[in-house]
Parts: sequence; structure tokens; C-alpha cells
Amino acid sequence: MMELARRVAEAADLVTVALDELLPRGEGPEGRLTEAMRYAALGPGKRLRTFFALETGRMFELDERPVLRSACALECIHAYSLVHDDLPCMDDDDVRRGRPTVHKAYDEATAVLAGDALQTAAFEILAHPDTHSDGAIRAELVARLAHASGARGMAGGQMIDILGVRDDLGGVARMQRLKTGALIACAFELPLVLARAKEAERHALMAFAHDLGLAYQIVDDLLDAEGDAHAMGKAARKDAEKGKANFVTLLGVDAARERLGLLADQTKSHLDPFGNRADFLRASVDFVLERRQ
Ligand code: IPE
Ligand code: IPE
Ligand code: MG
Ligand code: MG
Ligand code: MG
Repeated sequence: MMELARRVAEAADLVTVALDELLPRGEGPEGRLTEAMRYAALGPGKRLRTFFALETGRMFELDERPVLRSACALECIHAYSLVHDDLPCMDDDDVRRGRPTVHKAYDEATAVLAGDALQTAAFEILAHPDTHSDGAIRAELVARLAHASGARGMAGGQMIDILGVRDDLGGVARMQRLKTGALIACAFELPLVLARAKEAERHALMAFAHDLGLAYQIVDDLLDAEGDAHAMGKAARKDAEKGKANFVTLLGVDAARERLGLLADQTKSHLDPFGNRADFLRASVDFVLERRQ
């Protein structure tokens, strides 16, 4: 679907330009920190979380600015999570988005600080009155993103990943839901807050987000096992090498792919209540499944 690819590219451009304006530029010695933050956040990511947020905003006919600022906050948290994920004490990766990882381009201390400062930048963006005139809405956005990023979300999932779950699909699914699913779900949750959506709409969209997040990580695990490091812009074959339990290392490639096919239909079915308003979100499921990077 050409139109979908165009919208994904357009979302990426929009968020990159907006982040370029929002992220600090430092003078003096702290300039090294702001440079590293910008290197991490402005690099060529797919910006799929942004795309999901903008499409959800369109579905609810929201003004673009609050949704785009929410997407900027999400991308800051996501970039921070990748900077820390790549550190030698975590996955120890040298390449990300086709370029040296932040600790390679700078150094480890700078990478830790850049991650820290990107995390707080996210909340500074959401808390700013430009995000929404209603302070209660801004507080709700902050609370949702904080929950998705912290111990009961991404950071908690990363802990489980580092400790290593073994031989247990239920455990892997839970880890995935926290480490990847929570932030992807937030791409739908923040626009739902902005839309003051009805409970039934929230319920349907969160079910969609949950399954989409799961599919996203299964694809990530398949790409790790079979993908092309050059196309992906990051190392491949890391999970088996590091003895990580994930859907592919536990189920094998064929069974993981089969599960993904079933999951795709189930994911799309959650959008039924939205009719053709959700056509682009529906098509994005195949886009996620077919990604090569
Ligand atoms: C990679 O995220 C890490 C996971 C959560 C699976 P993305 O696949 O969204 O990475 P970028 O942002 O496009 O680099
Ligand atoms: C990382 O998962 C998820 C987060 C950064 C929270 P992975 O470790 O599988 O991501 P990649 O494969 O390095 O992008
Ligand atoms: Mg990791
Ligand atoms: Mg990693
Ligand atoms: Mg991976």
C-alpha cells in the first residue's frame, strides 16, 4: 500500500523536525551531552510509534500538535531505551540505526547521561503548556508515559530480559509485553487521553495495541535470527549467541512465523468497531509483519 508507506515516511519527517526543535542545544562542556542526545534521537529510526500515534490522532480527528508532541516524548523514551540497551553492561552492541552506538561514538558515561537526559526531556515536553491547555490532561499523559517506561513497563521488561527467562513461553510473553509492548501501547494510549475517548473505544484500541506489540517483538526476534544486519542497521544473531529466551529461540523459526500469522488476523479484528476509520492502522499490521529492518 503506497499510501501507507508515504504516511509512515511523512510521520518520520514530522517527528524528526519537531524533535530537532525541542531537544536542547548546549554550549560549553554540557554541549557534549546535548550532542549525544541529538545523535541518539535524531538518527534514522523507523518512527513507527510516531506513525501509530499520528494515525490514532487522525482517527479521532485530533489537532496534530498535541499528538506530535506526545510522539516526540515517546521517541525520546524509546531512544533512551535503545542507548541503554546497547551499553556493554546490557546487550553490548556497536551498531544501531546503521551507525555506531552512542557509547561507541562518544563514551559510556556520555551514553548513560544522554539516556538519562532523553528520559527527562520526554516529560518536560509533555508537561509543557504547548502540549495541551488543560493541566489535568497533561498530568494524565505524564502518568501514562511514566508507567509504560518504568518498573512495571519497559525498564521492568529489560530487567527480566537481562536476568533471562528460560524455556517458558508465558514468561517470554510477559517480558515482551513489558519491554516492548508497553511503549508501543503508549503510542495509542496518549492520543486516547487527548481524545477523551469512550471506554469501549479505549478497550478495543488497547487490545489492538497489545497484539500489535507482541507481533512487533516476534518480528524483531525473527529478524535477529534470520535478518540482514546491514538492512536492519543493527547486529543480527545476537539473541541465540547470548542465550536469550525469546519466541524464536523457544519455538523455532517456523512455529514463530505460524503464530505470527494467526496473531495478525486477531490483531486486525480488534479494529472492527472503528470500521474504515481504522484502515491505515489495519494496514500497518501487515507493514509491521513485512518489515525487514
Ligand atoms: C527496536 O525498536 C527495539 C524494540 C523495541 C524491538 P524499533 O524497531 O522501533 O527501532 P527503531 O526506532 O526503528 O530504530
Ligand atoms: C530492546 O529489545 C527493547 C528495548 C530497548 C526496551 P532488543 O534488545 O531485542 O532490541 P534490539 O534488537 O537491540 O533493537
Ligand atoms: Mg535488549
Ligand atoms: Mg538489544
Ligand atoms: Mg532484538
